[in-house]
Amino acid sequence: MKYLQKIVNLLLFIYNTFMKNLIIWVIIPLIAIQFIKVDVKQTLITNEKDKLKASKEIEEILNRSCADCHSNHVNYPWYDKIAPASWYVKYHVKKGREVVNFDKWNSYSSEKKRKIAEKIPKAIKIRMPLPTYLWLHSNAKLSKDDKRILNKWAKELQ
Ligand code: HEC
Repeated sequence: MKYLQKIVNLLLFIYNTFMKNLIIWVIIPLIAIQFIKVDVKQTLITNEKDKLKASKEIEEILNRSCADCHSNHVNYPWYDKIAPASWYVKYHVKKGREVVNFDKWNSYSSEKKRKIAEKIPKAIKIRMPLPTYLWLHSNAKLSKDDKRILNKWAKELQ
């Protein structure tokens, strides 16, 4: 009996010092924020004629490495559905689409296309795809060849 009492006391001690705080300060808020929805749609309707037309090679790179933020068809894996990770991801998709959406490319003015093309070489040097994205999407990393191909294409667009 004495031992049982000791174990119970120990469990109560652990609950009082750690679990209670964990539940109040971490678990409950984490559950609560799941109800705050940020609405950035995974798929938007694409007008076929607005889609960027480029060589297979370019389209393959853009689809693999850029489409998850700069297109009408992004992938949200399971962890992207849980707040606050989902907010972070959706914010990037929203921002990314604002800067350039390759599925809307032909709806842009030639001036806008030229401006985006000018920014591509610097963007892909280190920042694009975003480093935090690459942690979990290592296949999206641009190889030296990918960068060379994209740079050449960006030059042709200017
Ligand atoms: C994980 C999301 C994500 C991916 C993947 C991604 N981008 Fe971006 N991109 C963004 C966001 C967000 C911005 C706007 C904010 C910023 O510049 O950081 C942006 C901005 C840009 C800009 C404008 C930069 C400037 O100086 O204004 C270019 C150009 C660009 N991206 C090209 C690309 C290309 C090309 C790829 C693929 C190789 C790519 N991005 C992949 C999220 C992404």
